[in-house]
Amino acid sequence: MKEKSVLREEMKKILGNMDRSSHATKCKAIHDKLFASKEWKDAQTIAVTISRFPEVDTEDIIMRAWDEGKKVAVPKCIPKNKSMEFYFLENFNQLETVYFGLKEPIVTEVEICHKDKLEFILVPGLIFDEEGYRIGFGGGYYDRYLVDYTGSKVSLAFTEQLVKKVPTDPFDIPVHKIVTNEVVYDCAIRK
Ligand SMILES: Nc1ncnc2c1ncn2[C@@H]1O[C@H](COP(=O)(O)OP(=O)(O)O)[C@@H](O)[C@H]1O
Ligand SMILES: [Mg+2]
Repeated sequence: MKEKSVLREEMKKILGNMDRSSHATKCKAIHDKLFASKEWKDAQTIAVTISRFPEVDTEDIIMRAWDEGKKVAVPKCIPKNKSMEFYFLENFNQLETVYFGLKEPIVTEVEICHKDKLEFILVPGLIFDEEGYRIGFGGGYYDRYLVDYTGSKVSLAFTEQLVKKVPTDPFDIPVHKIVTNEVVYDCAIRK
């Protein structure tokens, strides 16, 4: 089986070749399925990253959450120990661009959201399998954060990002549900 690092680079290439209009169409299909899911409907406080193309867009998800009266929390990474803290985001002006064009909350303008307040986490990733295992961007941030998290874990993916089986390490934590532009997978393993 290929190594995670090789698979990551291959998938980044595939996704980078997606044209903007099919990207937008597929994002819309994913969003509609997400908004119809029980996990989404049941959650009052959700955690979500700020996406960058060609990831599945999350800006519309955040706006929809606000429209529905949900609270939205976004992560700030702490690279020195590869941990994250989530903060409540109330508008997009509370974001700043940090390394690699990544947008994060300006911590002086937002309130911290503790893990036990999060009912739903949208877990980002590059490659997924039907058991809910994922290959992320390589930092292991979510594997660390999810260790003691008990709420809903959902990932969004384009059909191209689904594979039969991803290579896993003992510390990898699977998600409960994967929503693609074509299918919603209820993943077998619940941890
Ligand atoms: N719970 C954890 N505690 C400590 N280190 C961890 C934990 N989970 C993952 N890691 C570290 O994070 C690194 C990246 O994990 P990996 O699964 O390859 O990345 P990703 O999940 O982003 O694809 C691993 O080398 C591993 O040592
Ligand atoms: Mg991992």
